[in-house]
Amino acid sequence: MRCTPPSISMPADGTPITDDRRGAARLAALWARGRNLLGTEYAIMGGAMSWVSERNLVSAISNAGGFGVIACGSMGPDLLGAEIAATAALTSKPFGVNLITMHPELDRLIDVCLEHRVGHIVLAGGIPPRKAIARVKNGGAKLLCFSPALGLARKLVRDGVDGLIIEGMEAGGHIGPVSTGVLAQEILPHINEIPVFVAGGLGRGEAVAMYLEMGASGCQLGTRFVCSSESIAHPKFKQAFIRAAARDAVPTVQVDPAFPVIPVRAINNNGSKRFIAFQHEVIARFRRGEIELKEAQLEIEHYWAGALRRAVIEGDVEWGSMMAGQSVGMVQREEPTAAIIGELVSQAAAVLSLRDGGPAAE
Ligand SMILES: Cc1cc2nc3c(=O)[nH]c(=O)nc-3n(C[C@H](O)[C@H](O)[C@H](O)COP(=O)(O)O)c2cc1C
Repeated sequence: MRCTPPSISMPADGTPITDDRRGAARLAALWARGRNLLGTEYAIMGGAMSWVSERNLVSAISNAGGFGVIACGSMGPDLLGAEIAATAALTSKPFGVNLITMHPELDRLIDVCLEHRVGHIVLAGGIPPRKAIARVKNGGAKLLCFSPALGLARKLVRDGVDGLIIEGMEAGGHIGPVSTGVLAQEILPHINEIPVFVAGGLGRGEAVAMYLEMGASGCQLGTRFVCSSESIAHPKFKQAFIRAAARDAVPTVQVDPAFPVIPVRAINNNGSKRFIAFQHEVIARFRRGEIELKEAQLEIEHYWAGALRRAVIEGDVEWGSMMAGQSVGMVQREEPTAAIIGELVSQAAAVLSLRDGGPAAE
C-alpha cells in the first residue's frame, strides 16, 4: 500500500517543486481549520473505541500528529480520571475524551475532564443535552458532537458546539441508517461556521482528500487503528480484523419491529448468528404469555452486555462483539500507529498533488 515516490520537476524560475510538496501544501490548506481546532499536525481523529481507545493507542495517535480520543464508555469518574492522567503521562500532545450522553454520571464525567484540563470533549450517543453543552463550554473545553442530519447540525452550531463529526453507516460500532457519502453531500455544503470531520468507511488517504475537497475540515477513523502495534486489542481480535473483508462487517439484525435493536456494525460470528435465534426464542416466550413485553425487550437489549470487552480484551472472537467498520477489508497487518497516519497523509497529499494540475501546469 506504499505510494509512488514523488517526482521532481524544474519550473522556469529554477526552483524545484516536488509533487509531494505541492500536495502537502494543498492538504495543509484544506484541513487548516480542523488542525487549528484540534491543535494537531494532521486533522485526523482517532475515533473513540470502547476498550480499545485507552492510554496506549490514544497517546500513540497524538504522538504521531493525529488526535487521540479516550473512550470513556461505561467507566466511572475515578477510572476516567486515572486514564486521562495515564494518557497525559505518555504524550504532551492534545487528546480528547469521548463521553456517552446516556451515562448516568455524565455531569461528573465532564467535571473530571475539566479538572484534568482535557482540551476537547466529544459527546456521543444521542442528542447532547443543552445542560451538558453549557457545562463543557463554561468549563473552557472545546466541544465536538455527532450529527446524523442537517437539521441537528444547524441546531448544534446554534448551541455553540465547536466542531461536528458526521459518521456514516459504513462505520464500526453503533450506526445510523445513512451512508457517509450521502451525509457528506447533505451536510458539508451547508455547514461552514465550524469545522466538520467525516467518519465511517475511511481506509485510505484519497478518500480523506475527497471529503476535504467537499468541504470537510478533517476526518475520524476507528477501524484502521485497531490493529496498530500500540493497540492493546487481543491478538485474536487483531487477527480477525486482518482476515476480514468489507462484507464481513455487517449490522446486527432486528427480527421484529416491536423489539427494537440499535444497529451495531460488527464482524459476523457465532455471537451474531445466535443473537437472531435468541431474539426469536424471547419473542416466542412473550407470545406464549410467559414474559411481559418490557422484560422481553430488556432480555434482547442485554444480550450483548459485556460482549465487546470479551472480544477485545479476552479474545473471544466467536461469541464476543467484533465491532468493526467496512474499512476492515483495508486492514492488512499489524503496524505502528505512526505508519498508519503517515500512509493516510501521504496518500492524501499524493492525490491532491495530481488534482492540482501537476508540475507542468505551474
Ligand atoms: C471496536 C469499536 C468500538 C467503538 N466504540 C465507540 C464508542 O465507545 N463511542 C463512540 O462514539 N464511537 C465508537 N466507535 C466508533 C468510532 O469512534 C469511529 O467513529 C468509527 O470507528 C469510524 O468509522 P470506521 O470504523 O469506519 O473508521 C467504535 C468503533 C469500533 C470499531
